Amino acid sequence: MPRVKVIHGPLLDRLGERETDLYGTEPLDEITASLVAMGKAAGVEVDSYQSNHEGDLVTEIAACRGQYDFLILNPAAYSHTSVAIRDAVVFCAVPTVEVHLSNLWARETFRHESTISRVVVGRIEGLGPEGYRLAMRYAIERLVGHE
Ligand code: DQA
Repeated sequence: MPRVKVIHGPLLDRLGERETDLYGTEPLDEITASLVAMGKAAGVEVDSYQSNHEGDLVTEIAACRGQYDFLILNPAAYSHTSVAIRDAVVFCAVPTVEVHLSNLWARETFRHESTISRVVVGRIEGLGPEGYRLAMRYAIERLVGHE
């Protein structure tokens, strides 16, 4: 069975309470449940991980190597600073879609640069939690094709 990993960076465990005007009101466990349900319907295993710690995220991304077929990644604030996370994405060699809930281009200039953008298959941003589900749709299409 194809396997998809979904990895979330700092403070995404507080979705639903955090800056809801930017990030929406859907809690992370609901987003995760919807992704798992999409995977189940298509015969794809979905595992999810969240951490507030850069090194833990690096370890988890690196551990995807040879274990997962697709990665959906929102490194949150580390998107704008972390060379280590970028290097882990390259190391794991798993096709990756970068997801951001908010539209980074409509925000502060320090959010315009993402260290992983050049090493991912594609990016979805500004569409709120729906962005994760669109990324999952793409992953399913890529891994198992049309049902
Ligand atoms: C974010 C955007 C980042 O700039 C911010 O630090 C986050 C969330 C997003 O999903 O819109 O924590 O990655």
